[in-house]
Amino acid sequence: MTDALPRADWSFPTRIRFGVGRIAELPEACRALGMTRPLLVTDPGLAKLPMIAAAVARNVAARLPTALFSGLRPNPLAEDVTRGAAAFKAGGHDGVIAFGGGSSLDTGKAIAFMAVQRYGIEELTVASFQDFQAALPKIVTAGLAPVVSVATTSGTGSEIGRSAAIIDPATRTKKGLFHERMMPGICIADPELTAGLSPALTAAVGMDALSHSLEAYCCPFYHPIAEGAALHGMALVKEWLPRAVADGRDLMARSQMMTASLAGATAFQKGVGGLHALSHPLSSVHDVHHGFGNAVLMPYMLAFNRKAIADKLTALARYLDLPRPSPKAVIDWVLRLREQIGIPHTLGALGITAEHADVLAPMAALDIVAGENPVPFTAKDARRIYARALAGRV
Ligand SMILES: [Fe+2]
Repeated sequence: MTDALPRADWSFPTRIRFGVGRIAELPEACRALGMTRPLLVTDPGLAKLPMIAAAVARNVAARLPTALFSGLRPNPLAEDVTRGAAAFKAGGHDGVIAFGGGSSLDTGKAIAFMAVQRYGIEELTVASFQDFQAALPKIVTAGLAPVVSVATTSGTGSEIGRSAAIIDPATRTKKGLFHERMMPGICIADPELTAGLSPALTAAVGMDALSHSLEAYCCPFYHPIAEGAALHGMALVKEWLPRAVADGRDLMARSQMMTASLAGATAFQKGVGGLHALSHPLSSVHDVHHGFGNAVLMPYMLAFNRKAIADKLTALARYLDLPRPSPKAVIDWVLRLREQIGIPHTLGALGITAEHADVLAPMAALDIVAGENPVPFTAKDARRIYARALAGRV
């Protein structure tokens, strides 16, 4: 009887400083984590924007000399992290400010993590749970440098997550560095930093936030607290994503979407699933933006899982106040939302063909998060879902 009682390991995130204008607290947040010479990691595009110059200037004025590393790609490669970790050591840094979208946040966290490791990144990034078990004893946690995360998009969840997605260039697979100590010490969640994001990127990363809450909610593991966060996260997306896309300067919409991102990241401590498994190879092989990949695939994956999670989807439909609550109501809502915010309906719009899908399907079935899906799926299933997404048949 006792064996049947719930048992689980739960991790909860990072201290979060949330609200418009809170980027002004960056020097204090760095100090609170003991930094004296932070390295600010961001992407080359952001590095040219006044928001990064202002952050560096604010730190310098507070007598926190801050150097910049911006040598990373939109879907970061292992070598980007290795070069960043070398810069971190060469500069005598004692902390990282991971500043930007998912790529910058992941790379920044990975740089702080790799700076103290004995093994190379190829041996510590994992593509499966078996790999994770093998990598765990090799990981050094003593002397890990602290991280302050500053998100400039709302959706990836990397600002409070415990992983970094890194591409292995040899196999073109999206692998991950995972460790609970990779969670940033402090997250500055300042919605104003997202106000300049284009409508298309706002839509794509917003759909990533939705995909985190949706997949975590559907994932069969036992984590009811994550499910509560997921439900709230999805309600926020329903209400506020169309507004954030329509008017990027609407700071209430930006604030609520930043909350939706944090809710999704709290929820995905539980797990994600097949949608992320199908979307990962789109990014690692074809450089598709993660949010767009998820957004296009979402209704097709929901349709594949729908029988196994019918009760959950009906409850979700009720929570979202959808007409005639049912799994179909949820799928119809996703389709309407996608159309409203300008997400394409088929994979063809992302440059994916049937020949590509033949190569991607076995990769999706082997992806580390495939096992978190409510129903197991094979490479053949993955091929079928891609085929539907190519044809636009939900
Ligand atoms: Fe995601």
